[in-house]
Amino acid sequence: MQSILMDVDTGIDDALALVYLLSRPEVRIQAITCTAGNVGARQVALNNLALLELCGRSGVEVAIGAEAPLKIPLVTTEETHGPQGIGYAELPPPAQAISERHAVDVWVETVRAHPGEITGLITGPMTNFALALRREPELPRLLRGLVIMGGCFNYQGNTTPTAEWNVSVDPHAAQEVFAAYSGLPSDKLPVVCALETTERIELRPEHLQRLAEAAGAAGPELVLPEQPEGQRSASDNPLVACLADAIRFYMEFHRLYDQGYVAHMHDAFAAAAAIGRTPFQTRTATVHVETQSPRLFGTTVADFRGLWNEPPNARIVTSNDPAQCFDELIASVGSLARALPASGHRVYP
Ligand code: BDR
Ligand code: CA
Repeated sequence: MQSILMDVDTGIDDALALVYLLSRPEVRIQAITCTAGNVGARQVALNNLALLELCGRSGVEVAIGAEAPLKIPLVTTEETHGPQGIGYAELPPPAQAISERHAVDVWVETVRAHPGEITGLITGPMTNFALALRREPELPRLLRGLVIMGGCFNYQGNTTPTAEWNVSVDPHAAQEVFAAYSGLPSDKLPVVCALETTERIELRPEHLQRLAEAAGAAGPELVLPEQPEGQRSASDNPLVACLADAIRFYMEFHRLYDQGYVAHMHDAFAAAAAIGRTPFQTRTATVHVETQSPRLFGTTVADFRGLWNEPPNARIVTSNDPAQCFDELIASVGSLARALPASGHRVYP
């Protein structure tokens, strides 16, 4: 079994990351903690609970932590991920309640209870984890490993010309996290999945068609650029319908920013990387997060050559295999979807 502790800001690609991990029989999700980012933290938690229920899972703790970044006001991005963070998907209110524990308590208590066993996966701003590190500075040594989706290195940002979203929401938290890893043995350094490799995980309409086939859905799943914006899935498979409705929104967003009718599945790649089911290579580096310069606020800089004479604090992913990653995501999520009861053919006006 692989034990994963997730911190997310669900989020369309976070949603795919979660569903993918739920589809893996060898993965135990210890808990899911929620950070404000794509949408507010409470909405993130409701999304995670609703997705768990959609996938037929109960008993996974979902906890809220920081509802704002460490030092700056919160910005959210409903423009990117939809009014509730899951695009056009609408899920019923979850029956399971949000945990009464604070996310920081969840991190510290869970990792202390299972030293050397837990892999952390952070696919949102690093606020909760930075706060957890303040409480328990030994977390980097107590964790089995840490995988982060965040930053961009020698590559344009998606929030400012040089900054990536998760880091730019809370750059001070990201800086604290990288500082906490300075000088640790390289197998303990966080694996950083940054935009230059996660933007290669480009989901296209044919991937959704393949997912519906893998799920054994009754009809083809057609999410196409010529269709009216906001059209909803008619799939009889509730998981396929949810993902198609979420991802259609994300594709429309990417098209709006001249990236084509595609959707970058940053967080799903990070999830597959965290459990070793998609190949990637890394290079150690010293990462600095800029928090002073107004124009460069949230920019991540990597010193790969030791020019700063500071010890490494990260392993940055330098190559990955998008085709394999999609094969893995589709096969695994497809088989989970296939096992769910059909919801009947949905008809939208
Ligand atoms: C990251 O920002 C969020 O919008 C996505 O969920 C992903 O985690 C990509 O920059
Ligand atoms: Ca995210």
